[in-house]
Amino acid sequence: MDRLPLREDLRGLQPYGAPQLDVAVRLNTNENSYPVPDEVVHAITAAVAADTAALNRYPDRDFTALRTDLASYLTTATGHQVLPAEVWAGNGSNEVLQHLALAFGGPGRKALGFTPTYSMHSIISAGVGMRWVEGPREDDFSLDGEQVLRSVREHAPDIVFLCSPNNPTGTALDLELVETVYQACAGMVVVDEAYAEFARPGTRSAVNLLSGRERLVVTRTMSKAFALAGARLGYLAADQDVCAALRLVRLPYHLSTLTQAVARVALAHVDALLASVESIKNQRDRIVTELAGLGLAPVPSDANFVLFGGLQDERATWQGLLERGVLVRDVGLRGHLRVTAGTAKETTSFLAALAATLAAARPEVTPAHIQETR
Ligand SMILES: Cc1ncc(COP(=O)(O)O)c(C=O)c1O
Repeated sequence: MDRLPLREDLRGLQPYGAPQLDVAVRLNTNENSYPVPDEVVHAITAAVAADTAALNRYPDRDFTALRTDLASYLTTATGHQVLPAEVWAGNGSNEVLQHLALAFGGPGRKALGFTPTYSMHSIISAGVGMRWVEGPREDDFSLDGEQVLRSVREHAPDIVFLCSPNNPTGTALDLELVETVYQACAGMVVVDEAYAEFARPGTRSAVNLLSGRERLVVTRTMSKAFALAGARLGYLAADQDVCAALRLVRLPYHLSTLTQAVARVALAHVDALLASVESIKNQRDRIVTELAGLGLAPVPSDANFVLFGGLQDERATWQGLLERGVLVRDVGLRGHLRVTAGTAKETTSFLAALAATLAAARPEVTPAHIQETR
């Protein structure tokens, strides 16, 4: 790249790069381990077949029908009425986040996030030439209200990225904190709720705060709970003017006819697609309990993954797991790894591989029992 006239501010940066390895148990990118149910597969293939002859035409640029369906899903899921004009969508929520960064960020502007958090928030910011600044988390990875306010006041960001439940730490945010950040800041406040469907009971979506807050945005995705990571559909809810502004930066026809069709079928089969959520939550809770039993330090989670600490050497543990056919995520936090909650069988494989890896590294420690709870 050195020979290219690349933007100076991109030199030396690393691209997003979760390993895509062909191993038996893949628990490193928080996908849904359950395949799309047969009834939805049939409905999707029928919808795609019906739309294929018309692919000579561009898709509906404003994805009107899809916005209506997304608005109705969000209204039902959150209890807050969301209108179609208050919805925007893209090829994954990463694209939606990029649209936000393009419209409200850019050179000379600043984005604030609280690390460790989702790595794409800073990568997308860098991509649009926006400065990324960081605020701290507490030792247990929670956010302290006073500290958050200090960071917001100190940096006066154009965009604040809040992630709830936060990736990679797993816990959801109190809505009071979102409200406080909103009041303290003149910029856009983006709450990334990619994992909202997995939250523990009583967790409220920031969608409930949208009324009267025209700088607040809540992003969501079909990549996790909906088991449609390969379809690439992310969306957001925000004031109508925010959605109107995003039309200035999107490429025309960015959502293909087929993407729109697949997403609409998914929304017509919400119950079938979200049927795996409860068992994934059970596996997540099982992982937390079992890891504590192994003497490790799992962080309580509202998502479909668990961050756990207490490892002497996270790189060696990651490698040991890989050698036993289990891929998890090294998120760059000393002593920690992150594992996705998938099927009961995957959890069992992960726990057995972890116990074996730890035992090989520390033969004096006997791993606690590993139950095959389903
Ligand atoms: C917090 C968070 N937001 C957004 C995304 C992006 O998801 P997608 O672009 O697949 O919608 C992810 C993916 O892992 C994530 O963890």
